[in-house]
Amino acid sequence: MDKFVIQGGARLEGEIATSGSKNSALPAIAACLLTGEPVTLRRIPRVRDIRTMERLLVDIGAIVDVGDDYVSIRTPAIRSPEAPYELVKTMRASSLVLGPLVARAGRARVSLPGGCAIGARPINLHLAGLERLGARIHQTHGYIEAEAPEGLRGGTVRFERITVTGTEDLMMAAALAHGETVIENAAREPEVQDLAQLLIKMGARIAGAGTATIHIQGVEKLRGAEHTIISDRIEAGTFVVAAAITGGDVRVTGCVPEHVQALVEKLRAAGVEIRETAPDTLHVRGNGRLRSVDMSTEEYPGFATDLQAQYMALMTQADGQAVITETIFENRFMHAQELARMGADIRIEGNRAVVTGPTRLSGAGVIASDLRASASLVLAALVARGETVIDRVYHIDRGYEKIEEKLARVGARIRRSE
Ligand code: EPU
Repeated sequence: MDKFVIQGGARLEGEIATSGSKNSALPAIAACLLTGEPVTLRRIPRVRDIRTMERLLVDIGAIVDVGDDYVSIRTPAIRSPEAPYELVKTMRASSLVLGPLVARAGRARVSLPGGCAIGARPINLHLAGLERLGARIHQTHGYIEAEAPEGLRGGTVRFERITVTGTEDLMMAAALAHGETVIENAAREPEVQDLAQLLIKMGARIAGAGTATIHIQGVEKLRGAEHTIISDRIEAGTFVVAAAITGGDVRVTGCVPEHVQALVEKLRAAGVEIRETAPDTLHVRGNGRLRSVDMSTEEYPGFATDLQAQYMALMTQADGQAVITETIFENRFMHAQELARMGADIRIEGNRAVVTGPTRLSGAGVIASDLRASASLVLAALVARGETVIDRVYHIDRGYEKIEEKLARVGARIRRSE
């Protein structure tokens, strides 16, 4: 199993480019099931979760052509409308094929995701939404079976709580339903907006994506399209924190500054200088002195839960006490224990973590437990004294494209070893 070996203490300097968004690319690939015509997607990050999704589509009946800077997908017919346990257990986002399969083939069989490292993460809200559109849902042998032989019918779906992939799943299903669907309390994340853009290019009639109410007028057929995925705001945010934590001087390019606004505001309050020097560039300068600032995760446009672990690593270097509250997932503090092994002072109280700093971190052997937790360990290792060895970096490979190469190019002493 691959490891990262990191020597701490290097100040990052230079330019680092953001890749396309994993969490936008995943639903975009699932959306290719909605039409028999080819859909070409550009700026798809070459990360493991994407390969898993492509494999799932091939099993279902798609022809997937992966080029240098594009993925072209054509699904002439749905051969097997199923997402098996083997794939769903490694990637929950496989449930994104549920909506498209029921809409196009009239049935779907998708394994229940079960537990995952950051909490229970059920898909009950996706299912309740599909039921509102007329799907019949049964659960047998750990699988969800959904059926709508006569097609789905539009309806009003009010999500009990905001769900990103739930909103995406339903938007895709509703695109081919008869009549109008209204999604209330919808997720407003940029990834939802990006998916709506793709679906609109495919001929869907969608209004309001990016607000809490989305209107979808079903159409009979969708067509092929070409689309470029938005940049990955979580990757960009991770690089912003990398610059800040090393007291570095880094331009993060190819990003959408508005998408990381909540992080930028917190970092400015903590004493980091961040300027938007071009519409797609954030210039980050740390001076090695940081103040503690409390933070609570929220749905977009609030502070992203996917940047909470990275922010916690940063707060171990800040002066004072920072209270970090996790409101989206019930068990997303696994990194705290590993950071503590490196010398951080973190107390967990329910869904709050109290970080007291600054602490001098020292290199240690640590284990990556999930994607974003792994990123926080890389960040901590960049400032720790001596060598850190991070085990199980396959977690980080799920969602970060060549992170070690990108960080090494701006001066980090990081290498991959077997
Ligand atoms: N929830 C339910 N029932 C559902 C769906 C969600 O109770 O049917 C709960 C979840 O357990 C969670 C909350 O609602 O407590 C929000 O979950 P959401 O559905 O929004 O999460 P998701 O769509 O499964 C996406 C991202 C995650 C990101 C979250 C929150 C993708 C593929 N995944 O997950 O990304 O943390 O939204 O922003 O878009 C990551 O990239 O590392 C990652 C975990």
